[in-house]
Amino acid sequence: MNDRIPVTYDAERGTFTLRTANTAYQMAVTEYGHLLHLYYGETLPDNDVSYLIPRVIRSHESNPPEAGTDRTYSLCAYPQEFSSNDAGDYRIPSIELVNGDGSYAFVGKYVRHRIYDGKYSLDGMPSLFANDGKDGENVRTLEIDLEDSVTHVGVTLLYGVFFDKDVITRSVIVRNGGDSGIRLQRIMSASIDFTAGDLDMIEFFGHHYVERQTDRKRVTHGISEIGSFRGSSGHFHNPFAILCDPDTTEERGGAYGFALMYSGNFVFDAELDGYGQTRAAMGIHPKQFEFLLEPGDTFTAPEVVMAYSGEGLGKLSRIYHDIFRGNVCPSKFVGQDRPVLINSWEPFRFTFDTQKLLETARISKELGADMFVLDDGWFGDRDSERAGLGDWTVNEKKLPGGINTLADSIHELGMKFGLWFEPEMVNEDSDLYRSHPDWCLRVPGRAPSRSRHQLCLDLSRDDVCDHLIRTVNAILDSGKIDYVKWDYNRYVCDVYSTAYPPSRQGEIYHRYILGLYKILDGIISTHPDILFEGCSGGGGRYDGAMLAYFPQIWCSDNTDAPARLTIQYGTSFAYPVCTMGAHVSVCPNKRTKRTVPLKTRALVAMHGTFGYELDPAVMTKEEREECAEYTQFFREHASLIRTGDYYRLASPYDDRLYTAWQFTSKDGDESLVCAVTTDVSTNDKVSYVKPRGLDKNAFYTVRHIAFGNDKNDKEYTEERLLSGAALMNIGIMLPLSAPQYSSFLLFLSRKKKA
Ligand code: GLA
Repeated sequence: MNDRIPVTYDAERGTFTLRTANTAYQMAVTEYGHLLHLYYGETLPDNDVSYLIPRVIRSHESNPPEAGTDRTYSLCAYPQEFSSNDAGDYRIPSIELVNGDGSYAFVGKYVRHRIYDGKYSLDGMPSLFANDGKDGENVRTLEIDLEDSVTHVGVTLLYGVFFDKDVITRSVIVRNGGDSGIRLQRIMSASIDFTAGDLDMIEFFGHHYVERQTDRKRVTHGISEIGSFRGSSGHFHNPFAILCDPDTTEERGGAYGFALMYSGNFVFDAELDGYGQTRAAMGIHPKQFEFLLEPGDTFTAPEVVMAYSGEGLGKLSRIYHDIFRGNVCPSKFVGQDRPVLINSWEPFRFTFDTQKLLETARISKELGADMFVLDDGWFGDRDSERAGLGDWTVNEKKLPGGINTLADSIHELGMKFGLWFEPEMVNEDSDLYRSHPDWCLRVPGRAPSRSRHQLCLDLSRDDVCDHLIRTVNAILDSGKIDYVKWDYNRYVCDVYSTAYPPSRQGEIYHRYILGLYKILDGIISTHPDILFEGCSGGGGRYDGAMLAYFPQIWCSDNTDAPARLTIQYGTSFAYPVCTMGAHVSVCPNKRTKRTVPLKTRALVAMHGTFGYELDPAVMTKEEREECAEYTQFFREHASLIRTGDYYRLASPYDDRLYTAWQFTSKDGDESLVCAVTTDVSTNDKVSYVKPRGLDKNAFYTVRHIAFGNDKNDKEYTEERLLSGAALMNIGIMLPLSAPQYSSFLLFLSRKKKA
């Protein structure tokens, strides 16, 4: 066996084996043509582990007709690669459809397969890409065709194997090869059957201001389900979930990740059946989903990015961070340190004029910011949430001379300039709505539901998409804009498009998302020099597909540092820190009313893109000087934070007094350790922060980084030389009586061998 071959087919045994550096994935075609899932996990040299399937009579289970009198062949008791409820598999299916004759039958049997170099791409939807063998990247694709021999409906199962990155992607294309239309009602992009064992499910739930909280529970009998039916991937559950052994921790144990590259309705199911088998499935939410496929039509399902770590949750996250940094977003900004921006929203909302903005930009230079971002309120009659959305023409009452005049003045100050847009939405009090009331989603004969006083444009319509591409591009083509914040501030309901017949209304949720991707392609790919940041009522649409367009996404409207600890912690399970929009804001915090030291606010914002969202004019001179130190420190270490390996050292949920995290350069020479005390105690046990991933035999210079008042404190300025072994086994002591929400920053640098 050549152990660097990502895809092998053993014709004699009918097995397919996918291999990455540390994992293996195996399937087998049975004597009757069914494709079984055999294994996913730690790498194996074996080309056939089908012995794991018990060929026993499962009492009353069905036997497909091909099996004749063989009662041991039951699909419900066998692990399936792509399941349907026909022929007796009663678990959650990969596909559900209605044939032209009204039957629900689909029995997919193996027909052929193809293996080729590089990575497949998907029509109309983002998916991971291979970097053409750059850095020796070893990527291959396997396509397996299954077909129903009666209806000639077929599916192509797509597998992208990223050998060095330890990632396997899956997607499915459904093809109606028959001669009558079918109605596709459910299509899962990936499903995996585990034949035995207890599993925990970890998912990331929340709501506006409280995104991606971490929840871990045992998968019990029945179906454990998370998902979104809000039209976007959403605040309430993230399209990323983990299944792991019950004893898996940050550093030990097996863990599987499933990330859906999709920004609309989704579902993740884990079903534990009576035989102790677990089926996991992920794809577009089947609720209000029905796609009509005429003869010859195809439907492409979004991609699931799967990874397995045998070394705990921390390693699983680092696998996702590497693939999401390297193989999802073509923007040049992914590989660059980002500007330190100051945003106008928290301090000014809708009330500003040119003078105020320029004054803010001028003072924010003292903080070290190098980009000024004008948020909501610059266009149409947008003086509140009630009017103006949709009218992307500058409000000259606020900004005489228009955007270019303001942009020029900001550029003259030596700063870059960014602008906020929310293209997918419309206020009824807008010229756009008055001239095109039919351009928003609404059910005929019913008044639409408003959210934040706005309606959602119908992106399933080509004319709406073309209008948005034209309008936004016209502003961006002025060439004065360096950054765009692309917002999306409501959930979708009243889903109906007058552009489609009644029989196609089940397609609209998905067509909306395809329209969104088309718009983003039409705007972002034609403006490679503009940095785009995603946003959705804070961090409500934070998913792999959005990362294909946005190198960074605003993580939450909650800028309170302690609240951000849990939000950023949860976000870090799948998404790299360099994608998390994070800013320093004023205290008491506008949302939580909490007061937290400036240093802690800065340190928590460095767990992200770092920037400011405040009025620097109301800060003291000393505060501004202190901020300048933070900005400078962030700049010096921006590439370590952006590209380094990330470790969660102490969870904000643990019963500890602190939360901690660490960034280590890929060569292991430098490491930043950050800690925030989340609780106080008197005369309590000592907290030792233990860094990870160091060379235990090497020595490291350990330096506390002091800012502002810290500098007078000897404790902070003392430098030590400690071995990796001491640092990882004993740790670094935090001061015993540190007040709540104090923060500590340590810089470790490996001593070169003499
Ligand atoms: C959303 C965003 C905020 C801000 C406002 C503007 O809530 O998350 O950052 O841009 O919209 O209306």
